[in-house]
Amino acid sequence: MQQPVQLLTFNPLNRARAQGHGCEANIEDSLKRDCYPDTGASEETCRARDCVWCPVPEPNPENIPWCFIYDAEGSTPGPLPGYGCEENYLPGEDRVDCAPGEDTNEVHCRNKNCTWCPYEEDGVTPWCYIPGTPTVGGYNMVGEPITITNGLRVNLIKAVANESFTFALQSSPKAWEGEAETLTLDAEFQSNYRLRVKIYNTTSRFEVPLDVQPATGGNQNPLYEIEFENDPLFSFKVVRKSTGTVLFDSSAGQFIYAEQYLTMSWNPASENVYGIGENEQKSFKHDFSKNITWGLWGRDQPPSFTANMYGVQPYYTVLETDGNSHSVAVVNANAQQFSMLGGASGPIIKYITTGGVLDFYFFLGPTPENTVQQYTEAVGRPQLPPYWALGFQLCRYGYNNIANMKAAVDRTAAAGIPQDVQYGDIDIMHKALDFTYSRENFPGLPEYIKEIKTKGIKFMTILDPCISIGEDPEEYRPLKLGNEMDVWVKNVEGVAVVGRVWPQDPVHFPDYSKNATKEWWKILIREFHDLLEYDGLWIDMNEPANFVDGDINGGCTQNNLNNPPFVPQIEGRYLPSKTICGDHKQEAGNHYDVHSLYGWFQSEPTLTGTREGSGKRALVLSRSTFLGSGHWVAHWLGDNWSKWDNLHYSIIGILQYNQFGVPFAGSDICGFIGDSNAALCQRWMELGAFYPFSRNHNGIDYVDQDPGAWGAAIAESSKNALLVRYTLLPYLYTLFFRSVTEGNTVARALWHQFPADPATRNIDRQFMWGSGLLVTPVLDEGAVSVDGYFPDARFFNYFDGSEQSSRGESLTIPTPMDKINLHIVGGNVLPTQEPALNTELSRNNPFGLIVALDDQGTASGSLFFDDGDSIGTIENEEYFLAEFTVTSKTLTSTVVKNGYPEMSQKKVTTVRLLGAGPVVL
Ligand code: NOJ
Repeated sequence: MQQPVQLLTFNPLNRARAQGHGCEANIEDSLKRDCYPDTGASEETCRARDCVWCPVPEPNPENIPWCFIYDAEGSTPGPLPGYGCEENYLPGEDRVDCAPGEDTNEVHCRNKNCTWCPYEEDGVTPWCYIPGTPTVGGYNMVGEPITITNGLRVNLIKAVANESFTFALQSSPKAWEGEAETLTLDAEFQSNYRLRVKIYNTTSRFEVPLDVQPATGGNQNPLYEIEFENDPLFSFKVVRKSTGTVLFDSSAGQFIYAEQYLTMSWNPASENVYGIGENEQKSFKHDFSKNITWGLWGRDQPPSFTANMYGVQPYYTVLETDGNSHSVAVVNANAQQFSMLGGASGPIIKYITTGGVLDFYFFLGPTPENTVQQYTEAVGRPQLPPYWALGFQLCRYGYNNIANMKAAVDRTAAAGIPQDVQYGDIDIMHKALDFTYSRENFPGLPEYIKEIKTKGIKFMTILDPCISIGEDPEEYRPLKLGNEMDVWVKNVEGVAVVGRVWPQDPVHFPDYSKNATKEWWKILIREFHDLLEYDGLWIDMNEPANFVDGDINGGCTQNNLNNPPFVPQIEGRYLPSKTICGDHKQEAGNHYDVHSLYGWFQSEPTLTGTREGSGKRALVLSRSTFLGSGHWVAHWLGDNWSKWDNLHYSIIGILQYNQFGVPFAGSDICGFIGDSNAALCQRWMELGAFYPFSRNHNGIDYVDQDPGAWGAAIAESSKNALLVRYTLLPYLYTLFFRSVTEGNTVARALWHQFPADPATRNIDRQFMWGSGLLVTPVLDEGAVSVDGYFPDARFFNYFDGSEQSSRGESLTIPTPMDKINLHIVGGNVLPTQEPALNTELSRNNPFGLIVALDDQGTASGSLFFDDGDSIGTIENEEYFLAEFTVTSKTLTSTVVKNGYPEMSQKKVTTVRLLGAGPVVL
């Protein structure tokens, strides 16, 4: 039972009862401006004027007002005396926002009786919070946990809030209005390695329609235990049984479960936390000393540190101090934020979301690779990319005419630089209209696409989600069919929403959560192939981006879905900023709940349509992603900057997306925004040759940056880096096969491969391809050497075969402008193939093997190969798979699957043996 709010006459001598009444904030008398110069002030009447009530003991010769407004005028600026901060400093996890969703400042905050603690440097938020540690939210267990099928159920009831919070409630807008009186927690032991903890209440709330696949192997010997505490409030712990390590302890802060404000804080097992996206993270490992808050809400947003970007990935991995690893997915799509706080007793993750339910999936590993395997088993493993998609891809926004596009392709070929894919961006369209091309600027494009295909170059093109309504529907089928099939997102009155994107006229937003829309989209994609013979499609702007906030006819109405009481730290601090309104209607729910699923809903029908249209495996590249997107699409990291630091950040983004189950990831090589330059582009081409998804893409109006555009030296080093890539494509393709079938990462951090080595934990300027290749690029302007770390294993220079002389050490490697450092890790067999100008050609070349021995003289690896372009070769067993092992100086090759007959025509002509010492003949 909640206690009734007490608004009785205040007794100033009773300090205990003063908590929450306005005195405890210690406002200096000189800063009190009388709010009740008239007579008859009481606490009740004072508060009715939104003023602070702090009776002063009689006698009161200076007539200090009991009822006042805090007046900052004349106060010393700064966060110390008079601000309440000094007396009432609280760490971030204990702060209860006193002005959630409001544009607060010192005066506004103090007038709510709250503490104003604006330290810029420590990053701790909120700045305006309820003084003291009030019992806000919080639940208690009702009885003991109940056994349910495969798990436990705990019933919870809201704890009694203390007075301080009750009073704060009255003067604050109620972010936490509609707190659930009761909750149910279900801990489902889904397998030995997968635990789900879902906390929900009886009212119907939005739940993400994520189709979680069952786990295998039963749950008889779980790697985890879940423990419940109830004193004084409810919390739970997930513990790794074998080591006793506490992986998740929810007692770290407030637990509030209100209508539009759900928060929980927990201690992760260590500070080695990686993941959460999509934002521009400057280190792969989170830095808990900086108290950074990451807002998540899909947005058309170039990287800008904590700014929320295109995708929403509430998923992270923890490397425990002993080298074990687990990961956590928070299945929630609402606007949300994760704060990484440096608590006194260790790191704290403070999570706030604005809707949905609290639904945690724990994947117990114990290796880092296991966590990704287990996660992708749940949310869906990636598609096998077509073989050609592993080749180098060329794109730019703003060729503006076909001559420029052809010139870029020709430059690339003339320099002998491999190219597998050419792109069209929106400038190939007629008036930026989907499913068209400009006959004026790109005359003969369909024929040109056919022509480059004869040379082995594929074509990908762009589609934006929205459809222009400025065309005559009789002449613009996407609009006519869309109207007929009733595919648009609607407003509350049932009228199709109107926004603005690239086309000159306004647009409608298709509701991809609706079956009719999926059908409509697939029809158009199929028909589009008759116009332009694409091999894959690139879906952009699908956050969904909008160049106005809300509907062009009037924005968004002021209400709880457009202006919730609490808005996480997202750009614009406004949910409809650069998108449509929260109260717009989609089949799957209010846009408020499903916004960040927009691209996710669009992904599957795009892939299906693209496959139907092309009759081939195809590739879909999507800007917006959510948990499980990797099942359908690849991802590029969006509109990055042509700046040196973006080389480093690109590695972090790619490693994260590999964690997120989207291994086919890359960033725009040479940068998208701003003019690139020769040195930057040279280094970037070298690095980008080792992105899983390797595409040079440029923004409109910037200088040409394709690798052939910079002169002979850069063309040469780009070519050389790409020729190594092409040589290693059978290895890369095999890694993708493992990713599809087992969930392994393709690009991985050193700590994924060497989790027990603490020195690897901060490394994000080097990365690996699988277990066999270490990439150590130069990332800094002007540098011609780079420091690289080599864990305790054998490492062989890819180029000259020499072995690294020392181990477990960081070494400075001289790296001239035309070089990138590559090392083969002892113990691996890497399949290779002679490179060529594209994969259509290279696929016919002889294979080779690089055999790098470990300390025991052993090595292993495999080769997966198929026709590279058919759908379902794995399911249909139409592939070749061989396993290689080396023991006792003998290389054995075992054919595991022989389902690709062409393989019998192919030969292995070279074996490069590394680490065998001098060979005696
Ligand atoms: C934004 C995308 O992120 C970018 O890659 C593309 O070139 C432009 N839209 C134009 O289509």
